[in-house]
Amino acid sequence: TAALALPWQGVLSAKSVSRISSGRIPRPYTVPFASPPVLAPVRRDATTDYYRIEQTAFTGQILPGVNTPLWGYNGSVPGPTIKAQRGRRTVVRQVNKLPAVHPTLRYTPWTSTHLHGMPSEPQYDGYAGDNSLPGQWKDYVYPNACEARTLWYHDHGVHHTAENVYMGLAGLYLVSDAVESALPLPRGPYDVPLVLSDVAFAENGSLLWEDNSHSGVYGDVNLVNGRPWPTLRVARRRYRFRILNASIARGYRLRLSNGQPFQVIATDGGLMAAPQTVTQITVGMAERYEIVVDFATVAAGQRVQLVNLGVANAPDYDHSGKVVQFEVTGDAFDPSNNTVPATLAPPHPAMALTAAMATTTRRMRLERSNGLWTINGKTWDDVEDGDYEPVFANPAPGDVEIWEVENSSGGWFHPLHIHLVDFQVLSRNGRPPRPEERGPKDVVYVGENETVRLLMRFSSPDGPHGRYMVHCHNLSHEDHDMMTQFQVGEHDADCDPINAAPPRS
Ligand code: C2O
Ligand code: CU
Repeated sequence: TAALALPWQGVLSAKSVSRISSGRIPRPYTVPFASPPVLAPVRRDATTDYYRIEQTAFTGQILPGVNTPLWGYNGSVPGPTIKAQRGRRTVVRQVNKLPAVHPTLRYTPWTSTHLHGMPSEPQYDGYAGDNSLPGQWKDYVYPNACEARTLWYHDHGVHHTAENVYMGLAGLYLVSDAVESALPLPRGPYDVPLVLSDVAFAENGSLLWEDNSHSGVYGDVNLVNGRPWPTLRVARRRYRFRILNASIARGYRLRLSNGQPFQVIATDGGLMAAPQTVTQITVGMAERYEIVVDFATVAAGQRVQLVNLGVANAPDYDHSGKVVQFEVTGDAFDPSNNTVPATLAPPHPAMALTAAMATTTRRMRLERSNGLWTINGKTWDDVEDGDYEPVFANPAPGDVEIWEVENSSGGWFHPLHIHLVDFQVLSRNGRPPRPEERGPKDVVYVGENETVRLLMRFSSPDGPHGRYMVHCHNLSHEDHDMMTQFQVGEHDADCDPINAAPPRS
């Protein structure tokens, strides 16, 4: 579990796959920026918007002039963005039209679609075993009962989530509500998604897959909204960026190249009570941070880059840290430039909880054993495929619990995702959480040898009940096999409530 050493050299000679020649990769910041398309509903009625999404294989050009076989939602990588309103339901028909086998990895692409960040009934949550095979479809029902937030939908097919997402099966889903809409935040063209990912290419243009013995898949081409190191032309005003780390395994520590401070206004679960002014944020896989950057302070003609300072065990093959460039145009200063109010929203329900409300404290240990990643010594196969189906926790609806998550896996970080809930980060190694983490979260970055304490309420008596997953969002770790589950309500005699981690070995 030491630091990953020179993976490309090992990988390429071991597999004799030629990496694409560097001359076919565009120079950073030469490709124009674009946002993913927005999906229109196929039908609307008084309560519901209906969407149809086809999961298909197609050839696209991520590198200009290079044909790359991809899988996507409606032929787009990332998938089209769905925009929802709090209180208005969404039904998404997901149709699996993928080929019977992956072109090089030779597995059958069963898919299960998870809307990450949406509390929904378990049958619509993209449970890992709830798979649609090529030729099958499923309607997913989303209540949109949650606060405004930036969510994403992505594949969750058991044991092949990483490959399916790497091939392109991920997209944004935005919920807005009255509180968020009333704020004087940048909107329209000034409210811009930044979906970060990284991929590698083989000489024939296909995506190159190497998971470094299930440690993670790392690319040497950084994409923003599916484009390599793009440049966005910006006016001299404030912008709201919705950052999603959609990488399989790469963590980002982001800062602006001029060192300029920016404001974090929202986390995974929506608006913070008050903006946090920072000069850098750490973004583990699946985390979302919304930030406001003021380009009015930058002279026209200047270029500012968002760069990745990197985190441990996320090799940066060209050591550039390049992500996306903002080119500040000479447009006149925009008098409608927005402000960021000192109070953004009433306290989010997850942030209004106090530790004293918790009735149970559970401990979770993240480890590696025998080449697999485990939670409290168990893999997902142990949990789900045995003759019994244990659950890590069995809270009653409305229960408040503290989960203490310890990373004992050596030199690896694990972004832990808990389905269904929004939680509050109480502490990181006994210290207050980072400024950007002081909002509602559904993923927490658990660094090397760190312990984090989380506080959450499990639904409510009339909210969704049932069995939900919790897992590492390094998707190679998730697939092999760092995932377990909990059950809200309906105590099951077969449950194996693990109230304390097993003893240390
Ligand atoms: Cu983003 Cu269980 O997933
Ligand atoms: Cu992990």
